[in-house]
Amino acid sequence: MNNSKLEIKELDKNMSLGQVAGIYPGAINIFMDLEIDFCCGGNRPLGEALKEENHNVDEVLETIREKYRRDVKAGKTIEDFGRLSKGELMDHIIQTHHEYLRANLPRIQSLTDTIFRVHGENHYQMLHFVKESFNALKKELEAHLEKEETDLFPKMREYEQGRLDKAAMETTIQELEQEHDAAGDILKDLRRKTKGFTVPAGACNTFVFAFEKLEELEKDLFQHIHLENNMLFKL
Ligand SMILES: [Fe+2]
Ligand SMILES: [Fe+2]
Repeated sequence: MNNSKLEIKELDKNMSLGQVAGIYPGAINIFMDLEIDFCCGGNRPLGEALKEENHNVDEVLETIREKYRRDVKAGKTIEDFGRLSKGELMDHIIQTHHEYLRANLPRIQSLTDTIFRVHGENHYQMLHFVKESFNALKKELEAHLEKEETDLFPKMREYEQGRLDKAAMETTIQELEQEHDAAGDILKDLRRKTKGFTVPAGACNTFVFAFEKLEELEKDLFQHIHLENNMLFKL
């Protein structure tokens, strides 16, 4: 998708986190840096979410606006997912985020297994937790992708063509949103337990790479969940 536009839209503190990220996806990284629970709390107004975490609302809002303006001026593509039909959005989600998970979940599992095997003696508690939590996350996500691709997404395509009522999807959407919350909780625990994916001094390359991949997965998943919770699932 390539639809950069030079138009700058207004952002304000009464918009939900999901709406702000819908206009400027770069805001997601800022939310993550500020440890704002964006993934499961995307419906909260920006101002309220910042206040809860004791951030200066006006300052953060200005930072987001400034980065947004800078990106637009620099000619960076601001992906305007709001312009996509549901069908196009599902295609994008599958090709980008589902493909990413299918390729990377097994790789990261192999990395977390290896660092537990090699360094488990010195960092038993942390690495055992990382290995077990990641295995649980992988299992949950694999079932989740399957449910989206074989159950909800086909129904959503029918709905878009006017052949299905939205009531037929509501329960599945609720379940999928709960699964997003559960995956977000595992990632939050992983971040806390690893002190922000910080490796111990003198860690080997595999250790460094494993934590980099976990952080990359976290970023990808938050963007993925945002597109589903705040855009695709809004009927
Ligand atoms: Fe998905
Ligand atoms: Fe999902």
